[in-house]
Amino acid sequence: MRSPLTAVPPLHLQAQQAEDGFGPDLRQALAAPPHAISPKYFYDAEGSRLFDCICALPEYYPTRTERAILQRHAAEIAAHVGAGCDLVEFGAGSCRKVRLLLPELQPRRYLPIDISVQHLQQAAAELVRQHPGLVVVPLAGDYLGPVRLPPALPGAARVGFFPGSTIGNLTPQEALQFLRGAARLLRGGGLLLGVDLVKDPAVLHAAYNDAQGVTADFNLNLLARANRELGTNFDLDGFWHSAFYNAPLQRIEMHLVSRRRQQVTLGGETFDLPQGLALHTENSCKYTVAGLQALAEEAGFRPGAVWTDEQALFSVHWLQAPAMDGRRGE
Ligand code: AVI
Repeated sequence: MRSPLTAVPPLHLQAQQAEDGFGPDLRQALAAPPHAISPKYFYDAEGSRLFDCICALPEYYPTRTERAILQRHAAEIAAHVGAGCDLVEFGAGSCRKVRLLLPELQPRRYLPIDISVQHLQQAAAELVRQHPGLVVVPLAGDYLGPVRLPPALPGAARVGFFPGSTIGNLTPQEALQFLRGAARLLRGGGLLLGVDLVKDPAVLHAAYNDAQGVTADFNLNLLARANRELGTNFDLDGFWHSAFYNAPLQRIEMHLVSRRRQQVTLGGETFDLPQGLALHTENSCKYTVAGLQALAEEAGFRPGAVWTDEQALFSVHWLQAPAMDGRRGE
């Protein structure tokens, strides 16, 4: 019998693996201010596993809130999106949320994109097992890089699905750039986008400083991954997880802070890290509904329906992409 893992080998979006940049990017972060590295490097197999654990934490409201919104409004969402679309998910991870939409949406094809090849392959295989009629084309790669999708299915609108407020992990400038690219890619269709909302900082603080320390492990896994893959010698006990809300910039920031003066070696180079040096590992930007819609409009989308929960913690947006001929879709 064929292994289910080989049943859906992912296509690669880029000739080069996105992971190839980890060494140079970490070097840059260690060498000079602003000592920042992209959060995309969190997601090796262990990081993806830890992120799945975060999603189940009581303090981490985004996942369950977005799921509830999708579940509750699936029929209405499908009415906006239109049945039988060519559905592309950006950063699909475990392909869990799309399941909530499949019965109502009935896409003709599902193309999950993710940077974590192994995780994607497993998730896609699992999805095919559970939905035998569904055509799944997993695409391995960085959707923030140049994306060339397989040709659209004739007669099927191309619809993007970008849940989980992953857009919040981009700076607003990067988010605008992503949305501009998506508006081009999804011409004639649209984007279903999950966005975390600005709220009481105490709720945000708890979500990124959970009592069990899973988010801390997720953050520290970046260093563990460097030790595994790049041969660095980070002492994980020598760093602490810092996450706080930066109110003027409307974002949670995560850092790894050096507890003491220490040295780390990467590729034959030694870096001196003073006590208190903060390696900036992630931003998680929060938006108002109006703020997100303004950004989407600037990118060329026409903002449509918005679904939120009763406490206005999270939002799901339908954004209409320009029509095929370049005009905005109606
Ligand atoms: C994937 N992303 C939307 C998560 C977030 O909330 O920004 C990643 C995360 N970082 C810490 N906890 C969860």
